[in-house]
This record gives sequence, structure tokens and C-alpha cells, in this order.
Amino acid sequence: MNIEWYPGHMTKARRQMEEDLKLVDLIVEIRDARIPMSSANPDLIRMGADKLRLILLNKADLADPTKTALWIDKYRAENITVLETDSKLPKNRNQILAAFETAARPKRERDKRRGLKNRPVRAMVVGIPNVGKSTFINLLTRKSQAKTGNKPGVTRGKQWIHTSSQMDLLDTPGILWPKFESEEVGLHLAMCGAISDERIPMEELAFQIIDFLRENYPGMLEQRYFPENSKESNEAAEANDASLKVSIEEKPAHEVLTELARKRQILLPGGQVNTERMAEILVTEFRSGKLGRVSLEVPSDPALI
Ligand code: G4P
Repeated sequence: MNIEWYPGHMTKARRQMEEDLKLVDLIVEIRDARIPMSSANPDLIRMGADKLRLILLNKADLADPTKTALWIDKYRAENITVLETDSKLPKNRNQILAAFETAARPKRERDKRRGLKNRPVRAMVVGIPNVGKSTFINLLTRKSQAKTGNKPGVTRGKQWIHTSSQMDLLDTPGILWPKFESEEVGLHLAMCGAISDERIPMEELAFQIIDFLRENYPGMLEQRYFPENSKESNEAAEANDASLKVSIEEKPAHEVLTELARKRQILLPGGQVNTERMAEILVTEFRSGKLGRVSLEVPSDPALI
């Protein structure tokens, strides 16, 4: 699967972001907790070399908690302030503001040494499309306002959100474009819904998800789509008809997709299974966490270093 796409409008978005970065002290970089490497853009480190930095592993509610813990350890060991978040939960607001303060501490101390008092820290949110930037900003503004969206060219005056008496956040996020450094990165972005689906062959993506889950989260597919085959009901299944038990853990991915479509009765008008539609369902359910909490990347993955 080869996905590579750098839309022209991103050049403009990037230039805008570089301008905005000049206005801030702190960069709040939002990454997807399921793919902390693939949802990053290494150029940001160069662009914001002199800035304070906070990494938010967003959508942590969808990610595998043990793997998220490994990422947090890694960033902490590198002296980077990091927080896992679920931006859809308003109760997380105070924890986020506390992380802002931790990340801003070096500037506060510098100001103090220079005898400067009560100078607000200015922050800006950046991240790849669909990572949760607008949701996160809305959480901090405490209101559910219309999404800012990713449409460049919608120029507005700079507005600052006063998150606390000493912390201002730019209300427009910076949009980073992911780096397609390897096929694996493109695949991970597609699996998590970070690239527009128009460009993605859905059935092929579904095959990749099936193979990934069977290798890394054995039993997860079966539990979702064939719960009657799960351990608890094994006896009952054997008592009925063993031939009905479909071991989707062993079949080729395309056969698994056909089995899922048959089981769910996702059919074409003539009665044949509609694997294309089933692929869309599987991808959607995977992305929204219906199959379970899954992470695609761990810090030690050699393909990502
Ligand atoms: P963006 O500005 O970076 O492009 O992303 P945006 O906030 O529009 O969020 C993209 C999608 O991700 C939205 O879902 C949003 O609800 C969801 N999202 C953001 N943060 C989190 C999180 O921490 N956890 C989870 N589970 N989802 C998150 P959507 O399907 O596009 O819209 P809707 O479901 O809100 O209607």
C-alpha cells in the first residue's frame, strides 16, 4: 500500500504556522497516542528550536495504556514534558493546565531572575490533521464552538484564549503535515484516520488491520465479530456444531473479511457478500475503538527510529 500526498495548500499552512510560532513561548504539540511517531513532524523541532515544548498524547482513550506508558517514559527520559489526554473529557482541563505550567516553568524562572513579574506565557497548539486540535482548543475555551477546521485561507485576526491569568493560547492551531518517511508511517496514518479516505483502498487497509490485530492483539477480532467463539462459550459452540466455528485467527485476511461480511449479513443486492462495505465498517470500528484499545507503535519499533 503506497500512500503519499502533500496537498499544495499545506505550504501556505506551514508558512502561516512559522509566522505564528514567532509569537509564542510554548509549543503544545498534539500527537495521536496510538501513533506518536507517525503523527509527528520532525521539522517542528527545527522550526521551534528555541521554544518550550509540551507533547500531548491525545486520543489516549483509544490507545493501549501499557504502550502509552512506554511512550511517556521515553519522553520523560528525554526531559520533554508529556501528558496523555482525552480531549473529549472536560474534566481533564485542570490536568492539562497543570501540564502547561510544568512546561512553562523554565520561562517563569527566567522572568523571575530578570525581575519580570506576571508576564503571561503564550502558547500555541500544533498537530497533524484530525489529531484533535480543535477539540482540544474547545476544551480549553470551555465551550463547544464551531470547529475551526483545517481550511487555510480562512484568515482571522489573532485571538488569544486566556486559559489562566498567566497563560494565553492562540485560538488557531498550526497544522503540521506528517512525514511519509516510510510505507509504515503512511499505513499507520491511514489506519488511524489521519489521511483522507478518498485516497485509500479500503479493502487493502482492512486486510492490514486484520493482519496487525491478529499478530499484536490475538483474539480481538474474534471477540468483536464472533463472540460465540470466545473462550467462555467454547463449550457451547463445540456442543452445537464444531464446523460452524470459524477460526478467523488463521485464515488469509481476504477470507476473514468475507467471513465478517457473511456473519454481519453485509450483502450486495444479488446476495453476494459486500466486502468493500464490510471493509469500511471494520476500518471505522477499529478507528473508533470499538474493537478495543489499540496502539500501533512502541518506542522500540526499529522501523520508526
Ligand atoms: P483537528 O482539529 O486536529 O483536525 O481534529 P478535531 O478536533 O476536528 O478532531 C478530529 C476527530 O477526533 C473528531 O471526531 C474528534 O471528536 C475526535 N477526537 C479529538 N480528540 C479526541 C480524543 O481525545 N479522544 C477521542 N476518542 N476522539 C477525539 P469526529 O468523528 O471527526 O467528530 P465527532 O465524533 O466529534 O463528531
